[in-house]
Amino acid sequence: MRYDCAPMEGVTGVVFRQVHHRHFPGVDQYHAPFLSPTKDHVFTHRERREIGREANTGIPVVPQLLTRRAEDFLWAAEALFDLGYPQVELNLGCPSGTVTAKGKGSGFLRDREGLEAFLDEVFAKVTGPVSIKTRLGLEDPEEFWPLLALYGCYPLAELILHPRVRADQYRHPVRREVLPRVLEEWKRPLCYNGDLDTPADIAALERDWPQIGAVMLGRGLAADPALIRARKGGPPLERAELRSFVDDLYDGYSAAFGSRRSAMSRMKELWAYLLCRFGDHEKAAKRLRKARDTAEYEETVARIFGELPLLPETRPEW
Ligand SMILES: Cc1cc2nc3c(=O)[nH]c(=O)nc-3n(C[C@H](O)[C@H](O)[C@H](O)COP(=O)(O)O)c2cc1C
Repeated sequence: MRYDCAPMEGVTGVVFRQVHHRHFPGVDQYHAPFLSPTKDHVFTHRERREIGREANTGIPVVPQLLTRRAEDFLWAAEALFDLGYPQVELNLGCPSGTVTAKGKGSGFLRDREGLEAFLDEVFAKVTGPVSIKTRLGLEDPEEFWPLLALYGCYPLAELILHPRVRADQYRHPVRREVLPRVLEEWKRPLCYNGDLDTPADIAALERDWPQIGAVMLGRGLAADPALIRARKGGPPLERAELRSFVDDLYDGYSAAFGSRRSAMSRMKELWAYLLCRFGDHEKAAKRLRKARDTAEYEETVARIFGELPLLPETRPEW
């Protein structure tokens, strides 16, 4: 089984990948949050910082692209292959209104003809492997069957399936009931993503669907950076190593952004997930959310580690 880290904009960027890989080795692939290539065909400063080769050396990274223009996808994919990335991924899942309004992400799933023309051009010209991360559709899971047939027309390196429709956002329970038919119709590499939050969740998926060769972990891995180690039979997350991970990440963001205040904002996004590992965390959650300066933030983090129990395993409510 391959265990991947999901792309999460604002959470699993380059600094997270570096620090996580150092503290908790064992992720087979980190899928980078999406880049949106434009007609200019240049990467922005921020994008270069995210996917620059030095910062990602020694870490298995799959960059992801969000676009509906084949020309822009092809430009960015070739630039990424030139940087040494072995594979690139197309995002057909993002549910955000600003993205779908432009017909990108899961919004592209509504325009099957446009998607077919896009994939025809991309797969006719691209020089390296391309995978697709997809939702089932926009409103109704039945939208997926013609989409799956369309994906089957191309030599995808892999299909990554997040079995929700766009209207589900990230809340509606994942629709695993589609899996039997997906596995019947899709005999090629498949990576499953969605609501695998504990080692037991992952074990159950592996038991129930032994044909699936890879899983991608998002919020569960953000909440428990040792999730993959624990699934492989290693020790569960310990307080001291979590503290050391959190401190290194904060330092890493401070160095990358040149500002502890900006680092604090980024850390707060991770804490939204991490906090569910601690018992009685409601007050701390409020204090963290309200922390205006870094001293207040740092004191709250010290109190979390000093006072709150680290739970052995939790079923988070996102
Ligand atoms: C804050 C946040 C940011 C995300 N950013 C991306 C992204 O850049 N690209 C992408 O394909 N999916 C993105 N996702 C979706 C995740 O990759 C994943 O599909 C989703 O969280 C479900 O998996 P999980 O239940 O393991 O968290 C994001 C999700 C969240 C919550």
